[in-house]
Amino acid sequence: MPVLNESSFFTEENSAEIVISRNGNAKNERLNQIMASITRHLHAAVKEIEPSQEEWMAAIQFLTSTGHTCDNWRQEYILLSDVMGVSMLVDSINSRRPSGTTENTVLGPFHLEGAPAMEFGANICLDMKGEPMVVNGRITDVAGRPLEGVKLDVWQANNEGFYDVQQKGIQPDFNLRGVFRSRTDGSYRFRGVKPRHYPIPNDGPVGQLLNKLGRNNRRPAHLHFVISAEGYQEVTTHIFVPDDPYINDDAVFGVKESLLRDFVHIDNSAKAAEYGVANPFYEVEFNVVLAEANS
Ligand code: BEZ
Ligand code: FE
Repeated sequence: MPVLNESSFFTEENSAEIVISRNGNAKNERLNQIMASITRHLHAAVKEIEPSQEEWMAAIQFLTSTGHTCDNWRQEYILLSDVMGVSMLVDSINSRRPSGTTENTVLGPFHLEGAPAMEFGANICLDMKGEPMVVNGRITDVAGRPLEGVKLDVWQANNEGFYDVQQKGIQPDFNLRGVFRSRTDGSYRFRGVKPRHYPIPNDGPVGQLLNKLGRNNRRPAHLHFVISAEGYQEVTTHIFVPDDPYINDDAVFGVKESLLRDFVHIDNSAKAAEYGVANPFYEVEFNVVLAEANS
């Protein structure tokens, strides 16, 4: 007969501690620390909620269906993290940078590796829908020195509110995506279409959850950037249209005041011809300040 040690049996009171103590032989101390924290918080939540068996099964089913909704083109777990504010929290923790440098925001699930390299001023819009827009800016370091050769990976939804990967076979591949490099004076330019607000994917479990919670599922109009240069911290960010109706109710909490930009309506045929866009058009300036890698 094994010797009974009462304190090693699971009880409602000791539930978290007994689970944590079983992980004592973990080969990775960080994993041990993470699992201890998650176990403590999860058990505390279950004790607070006191779910019925049916409610707990509903939670399991929700997570199961979230997994079943994921494939090579869709990541419903990232979306869940986004709408719970966790993506933005992890991003904030990992992108504490010196003041005056360009702030990060959420990457989102629609970034693609391998977008085409494009020349200064090129048009990323391949489906010819929407109001023309020109984006101009300069990349500098914190001292205001121009940075040459900085990579700007940009992407946006089309005029109907969908990314190319959401409409494979409907939109041209790599519609509204491009990779640009800043010039000697730090300048960059590209053409696209004025962004519009759009719903995050709402045909899966996360969309249903937002609906049940009575929450908005829209993102205010924005353009995405990943900006990188050797020796500098990478910036994953957006610029937002400030008068968008959802600017204060972003479904994924990505808006920051420093990322609001004026999208100026221009009616000037000479300027339009210079940029190679139809008149009238929108112009927006987005200057970027990069922090050194070890600052
Ligand atoms: C996006 O802006 O592309 C996005 C971000 C989070 C969730 C869904 C979409
Ligand atoms: Fe987006």
